Amino acid sequence: MTKQSPALDNLLTESRTFPPSEEFAAKANATEQWYADAEADPEAFWERQAERLHWQTKWSQVLDWSNAPFAKWFVGGKLNVAYNCVDRHVENGHGDQVAIHWVGEPGDTRDITYAELHREVCKAANALLSLGVTANDRVAIQLPMIPEAIVSMLACARIGALHSVVFGGFSSSALRSRVDDAEAKVVITSDGQYRRGKAMPMKANVDEALDGADTVEKVIVVRRVGDDLEGGVPWTEGRDVWWHDLVDAQSDEHEPEAFDSEHPLFILYTSGTTGKPKGILHTSGGYLTQVAYSHHVVFDHKPGEDVYWCTADIGWITGHSYIVYGPLANRATQVVYEGTPNTPHEGRHWEIVQNYKVTIYYTAPTLIRTFMKWGSDIPAKYDLSSLRLIGSVGEPINPEAWVWYRKHIGGDRCPIVDTWWQTETGAIMISPLPGVTHAKPGSAQRALPGVSAKVVDNDGNEVPRNGGGYLVLDKPWPAMLRGVWGDEQRYRDTYWAQYAEQGYYFAGDGAKYDADGDIWLLGRVDDVMNVSGHRISTTEVESALVSHPTVAEAAVVGATDPTTGQGIVAFVILRGGVAEDEAGGEKAIQELRDHVAKEIGPIAKPRQIMVVPELPKTRSGKIMRRLLRDVAENREIGDVTTLADSSVMDLISKGMKSRS
Ligand code: WT7
Repeated sequence: MTKQSPALDNLLTESRTFPPSEEFAAKANATEQWYADAEADPEAFWERQAERLHWQTKWSQVLDWSNAPFAKWFVGGKLNVAYNCVDRHVENGHGDQVAIHWVGEPGDTRDITYAELHREVCKAANALLSLGVTANDRVAIQLPMIPEAIVSMLACARIGALHSVVFGGFSSSALRSRVDDAEAKVVITSDGQYRRGKAMPMKANVDEALDGADTVEKVIVVRRVGDDLEGGVPWTEGRDVWWHDLVDAQSDEHEPEAFDSEHPLFILYTSGTTGKPKGILHTSGGYLTQVAYSHHVVFDHKPGEDVYWCTADIGWITGHSYIVYGPLANRATQVVYEGTPNTPHEGRHWEIVQNYKVTIYYTAPTLIRTFMKWGSDIPAKYDLSSLRLIGSVGEPINPEAWVWYRKHIGGDRCPIVDTWWQTETGAIMISPLPGVTHAKPGSAQRALPGVSAKVVDNDGNEVPRNGGGYLVLDKPWPAMLRGVWGDEQRYRDTYWAQYAEQGYYFAGDGAKYDADGDIWLLGRVDDVMNVSGHRISTTEVESALVSHPTVAEAAVVGATDPTTGQGIVAFVILRGGVAEDEAGGEKAIQELRDHVAKEIGPIAKPRQIMVVPELPKTRSGKIMRRLLRDVAENREIGDVTTLADSSVMDLISKGMKSRS
């Protein structure tokens, strides 16, 4: 396991607890009894959860695990995911309920009812069909947080096409590798996006990505920024088509087809321990069941009463499961905000909470720490009394941030749900149950009813209370990934090889039990960094660095960062000549940071790049990242005896001191 940082040591001495209020508990969607019921008969429990959905044909078997690790849930069942998220609410008389309160960054707004959403999704589905997209085809989506992003995803789901959403901040080469890997037939994007008050190009990035991408037949372009964009929109006649020309002309009626419960729903790429991102594959019935169930119990969501807001981007799994599929399946009214939290001012989120009377707010620790930095006087200027539950996801939340969040946002009254899960798990797995759990700042605590998690040692034995080890999921769950797109071996190797004998899913996170048996997550144990809740692999950044002509070798580590959780610190050996000249060195470093942003995206830009004469390696040539992390975190350097040349660390740390 990786060495613990001081922040984690602090986390482990936390002992405060916050019991639920009687008032909240009395009306909570779930009770303590759910744990016992689920444990007594997990399949019957999940069957009851699946009944939240409308099935065209009921399943004949709950779980088929005979071909493990490839699960089949609700075998033989048929449903349409988009019908469940939209049509049935309209049919049940809720067409006039607002589904989405959309807030654009420049201040423009749109309220979209379920009836309107239904018409938009039908039109977009008809549009895709008119382009020849059929079930099982792949559609890549790179869009800002605008309603068309959600409509596009649901339109794909409706016709059985798989969407592959690519985060708007990803570079053209990151987009290209995802388009190629999934062999996408259509790409949906926009002319540009608003970022911090400025219209930035998006279509231009897509065009650069698609140069020579021969699987792509059509590019649909949403007009978002229009004339605000300098230089206009590059256009390829015959391939590109405006959304408003194509979609607006379609019929707003479309008969949904029921697909098999195991019909693929989407691919979402995430960083693994190698440079190449993995296409995580999710399917329909089990996924929708678990996201709807978890959204209902973890957020205590009451349709028609709550105003829910998840601040994630649809480019990440959180946006898929807790903006699109879970909330819409549960007939939520939700806020969707396009922009950054400090545009045009640092109270933007709280202004939105106040204006729309948001009751449930779900965000990431990195943003909570940023709000802390901006100061508690900012939220204090707004009326946040509508809030009744607040949540956190993406990385361990340090107790200071938890307590600040509870006090300054939650008014010392809202329960906090610290939710642990992953792109691969599809849905929340470990979280307090609001109204039931006595919350502990910094701990995600306990697997949800129906879910099973354990902390085990290297050999797969469960560790005792107060013991640390690795987090595993020891039973299949409905929203689990069904594989890595096009790479069965990688699926087996990454998740199932570690504990093959026991048949456990290896999550890649370190964890421990406290004295009560509650789970505390301690961060990744592999070469994956967590920067502002975004997963980036060290190898991915290293490959980007060495693809630059000035770099001979590179090693990247995630160093503890007070705001972003981890910051990317790179150590590079420059090719002859570049390193010698001081000014040239600085320029080279800036150029390298920009190069990484161009190769992967701005989120992968190293916080620091250190030019070093050598890298610490073992005799077998493996880079000892542990030692580099010591340097990056200004710690005393650990055991160097396994280094091929133990003087290397002296050279590196001397170089560091003379620079700072
Ligand atoms: C990794 C998954 C799940 C949506 C966002 C990230 C870390 C996530 C927590 C939490 C401690 C957490 C883990 C996990 N993580 N939530 N509540 N406490 N760590 O999805 O990009 O697939 O990343 O995020 O390390 O493995 P992802």
